[in-house]
Amino acid sequence: MCVWTIMEDQKKILCVGLVCLDIISVVDKYPEEDSDSRCLSQRWQRGGNASNSCTVLSLLGASCSFMGSVVAGHVTDFIMADLSRHAIDVSAVVWQVKGQTPCACCVVCPSSGSRTVVLYDTNLPDVTLEDFSKVDLHQFKWIHWEGRNAEEQVKMIQQVEKYNSTLPRQQRITISVEIEKTQELLYQLFPYGDVVFVSKDVAQHFGFQSAEAALKGLYHRVKKGAVLVCAWAEKGADALGPDGSLIHSDAFPPEALVDTLGAGDTFNASFIYTLSNGGTLQEALTFGCKIAGRKCGFHGYDGISETLSDV
Ligand code: ADP
Ligand code: FRU
Repeated sequence: MCVWTIMEDQKKILCVGLVCLDIISVVDKYPEEDSDSRCLSQRWQRGGNASNSCTVLSLLGASCSFMGSVVAGHVTDFIMADLSRHAIDVSAVVWQVKGQTPCACCVVCPSSGSRTVVLYDTNLPDVTLEDFSKVDLHQFKWIHWEGRNAEEQVKMIQQVEKYNSTLPRQQRITISVEIEKTQELLYQLFPYGDVVFVSKDVAQHFGFQSAEAALKGLYHRVKKGAVLVCAWAEKGADALGPDGSLIHSDAFPPEALVDTLGAGDTFNASFIYTLSNGGTLQEALTFGCKIAGRKCGFHGYDGISETLSDV
């Protein structure tokens, strides 16, 4: 093996986006508005799409870094300790001096499989191009952006494109973006990913009733050679690549549905993990659905590492 291949293997995956505190109540029945009920259990968990994807990447055995905004305080102490427990590199975390570290109240209902989230994340500045410019790109083989402050994120991606243009193909950083929320602003990210994850919500917002229809209808928005991926909960996930062939994986439902919070983040991480290790699109899609399906069978993410021996 030549020297650069060894170095490429050691490079990390960076996820840029939200970290927050999830205060999770597990209920047997979704509560009525203005009622006063008891839940089955309650816990604090580190959340946020990019942060959850880091958790899963790390549990799968990948080296990864998280980049997102926090403010010093109790909530952030909890978050930083948990990032450290999961061996996620935090050197790119941006310490803001104004605002509040985001927090979400989450209601997880195993009997219906629903996860209801109320998030407050509106008064904390997002990561900027200036923050991103301080990061040494040589350490990464893949950078994933959770779509948030898209205009600024486009500038970060352009910086990576510029960096890539100086390098041979094998040493370039792969760029992925997630377009999850139905916000017009995020749609400008479509042409910027080598891999673009578009959610069922966004697909439905555009009027598509299946992952296949969404991929065919949205593919013209991505750049030449890109892969567009759409997960569709219990229907599994589809991907469309540059050769025009549509790939599908069924879902892998757990014996009992327990916790669907972060299923999408788990899918994205498992997909990225497979492709970044040289797997095929079909392998990435199937592995993504397998790990995400398993995750739905237990609370949180840590159970992933115990199930890996028989994937
Ligand atoms: P999210 O709503 O968290 O963004 P999705 O609902 O799109 O995520 O699901 C992502 C992946 O998780 C799906 O492709 C599927 O493989 C798995 N998944 C989600 N919900 C279920 C379920 N009820 N049963 C089995 N697998 C599921
Ligand atoms: C799961 C999640 C939670 C968080 C919410 C934010 O996908 O990242 O951890 O509270 O979504 O939208």
